[in-house]
Amino acid sequence: MTENCQKLEWDSQFFGHRIARIESDRLTSHSLDEALIWCEKKGIECLYFLCAPDDDASVALVEAAGFHLVDIRVELSWKAEHTSAIPIAIREFRESDLDELRQIASHVYTNTRFSLDKHFPADRVAELYAEWLTGSCRNSSHRVFVALAAEHIAGFITCQFDNPDIGRIGLLGISQQAQGQGYGQQLVYAAQQFFDSAGVREVRVVTQGRNIVAQRLYQSCGFRSHKIGLWYHKWFSARH
Ligand SMILES: CC(C)(COP(=O)(O)OP(=O)(O)OC[C@H]1O[C@@H](n2cnc3c(N)ncnc32)[C@H](O)[C@@H]1OP(=O)(O)O)[C@@H](O)C(=O)NCCC(=O)NCCS
Repeated sequence: MTENCQKLEWDSQFFGHRIARIESDRLTSHSLDEALIWCEKKGIECLYFLCAPDDDASVALVEAAGFHLVDIRVELSWKAEHTSAIPIAIREFRESDLDELRQIASHVYTNTRFSLDKHFPADRVAELYAEWLTGSCRNSSHRVFVALAAEHIAGFITCQFDNPDIGRIGLLGISQQAQGQGYGQQLVYAAQQFFDSAGVREVRVVTQGRNIVAQRLYQSCGFRSHKIGLWYHKWFSARH
């Protein structure tokens, strides 16, 4: 049965492991067995599962099957409205910023499910975020803002649209030396103003359950909890 699992070609190619995902957020013992058999047949090495947080039966099933909890996915949302905060020292991305931005992106994402799952080599994880950011900078339907410190770029925020009504913050990152100085908040203000002027109804962002600093930052800018999910990874390493 393949309907409940999908091979992730991009992830597989990028990490050099055959990676798939269970598509539903709830499992029965039957659907889990089917997923595991499908993985065996396809030679899958890593299976992702984003579990509904209120489904203890699915949690018990995947834990018994050797899945490991790697992250709590926290999605927050903000009902767009005019904001009076004036972001300072923020401007739009320029092509000449890219090297500096890639450097920041490859160093700051240290508590995500990819960085904490040690099956993924640290240099590939660093490259993942640098590539993700580059993709946004090069995508004409995304908008990237950068915060300027004295001689360097302090950080960036990427903005995109799920649909004309829903904006989404993709990546927010502040260089290690510039953290805790208000740049993150300034960038979120800039994103909020951009989305408000673009006419969206709502803006969403995903962060990690363990990332209290990011959650407090978004909350201080008016974001509230929208959706929670439990990220599990199952590695079939014995087979390889
Ligand atoms: C999370 C992050 C974007 C916050 O940006 P920042 O510029 O460091 O944060 P700010 O200076 O704007 O501060 C925002 C809030 O976080 C608090 N804060 C910032 N750094 C902190 C730290 N290291 N420890 C505790 N609180 C901290 C500030 O006090 C402030 O809270 P307050 O409004 O209650 O005073 C930044 O630290 C970062 O890039 N981290 C790594 C990547 C990441 O986690 N990205 C987030 C989304 S996935």
